[in-house]
Amino acid sequence: MIVYFSGTGNSKYVAERLAAATNETAVSIEGLSADITLNDGERFGLVVPTYFWELPAIVREFLDKLTIKNAVGHYIYFVATYGTTSGCIGEDAKRMFKSRGIELNGLFGVKMPDNWTPVFDLSDPEKVAGQNAAAENYINKAAELILKCENGHFMANKAPFFISKLTGALYEKERRARKFYVEDSCIGCGLCAEKCPSQAIEMKEKKPVWTKECTLCLRCLHCCPKFAIQYGNGKTKQHGQYTNPNVKV
Ligand SMILES: Cc1cc2nc3c(=O)[nH]c(=O)nc-3n(C[C@H](O)[C@H](O)[C@H](O)COP(=O)(O)O)c2cc1C
Ligand code: SF4
Ligand code: SF4
Repeated sequence: MIVYFSGTGNSKYVAERLAAATNETAVSIEGLSADITLNDGERFGLVVPTYFWELPAIVREFLDKLTIKNAVGHYIYFVATYGTTSGCIGEDAKRMFKSRGIELNGLFGVKMPDNWTPVFDLSDPEKVAGQNAAAENYINKAAELILKCENGHFMANKAPFFISKLTGALYEKERRARKFYVEDSCIGCGLCAEKCPSQAIEMKEKKPVWTKECTLCLRCLHCCPKFAIQYGNGKTKQHGQYTNPNVKV
């Protein structure tokens, strides 16, 4: 079984590729029960994006409740997708699994287009296609090791865990969702509210309003049919919208 969270499709794509390689099923974390029982010989994988060098809030909430009744004797692995640096996410995941009494056997990273467009520019389709093509090597390598149930921390670009104190604080601040704004091109379709995994958007007078802190996946920004949602310093407009081209978000 492969559980994934994916804001804009990268992690979903990786989960589906690994599911095909291992002949197992990929399921979204959204609405999923955290009480898991594995079949004989079944592996358990968790595939998620890196946010501020750490786990997304929605994934932390899931891990806080996770029970795998028969984890012992099964291969348990974690995969982070990331754009530039996976930072402390591996260590973070290891600790959270451990707090639930589960030992992580394998940790992997897959470098992909960086959907944090307040900083990164995804407006050049050729460049983005190149980044997605390069990700195939990471996925193939992870699939090979997962098939062999190989033990080890195989992620690149790790950072010492103490740094997560700083990056964690930054994430908590950003995910208050105060920096979103909506341009006049909004047609009031409500798709952003419908697709939000944190139910953080309400439609008021046909315009989205952020009513609570969120996971900050940027799905609302990247999926708006009018590209009317922007974030922060205005760079998001010039940096373009992105969803993984191989899956439906
Ligand atoms: C709020 C936020 C923070 C991010 N922080 C990081 C980061 O610290 N390091 C990194 O390499 N990529 C970072 N990214 C990029 C994503 O981890 C990367 O694009 C990921 O593959 C997106 O996966 P998804 O399409 O499944 O949502 C961040 C993205 C978002 C939205
Ligand atoms: S998805 Fe875009 S156009 Fe539709 S309501 Fe949200 S902001 Fe407006
Ligand atoms: S408000 Fe937007 S960025 Fe925040 S969790 Fe919802 S879809 Fe993701």
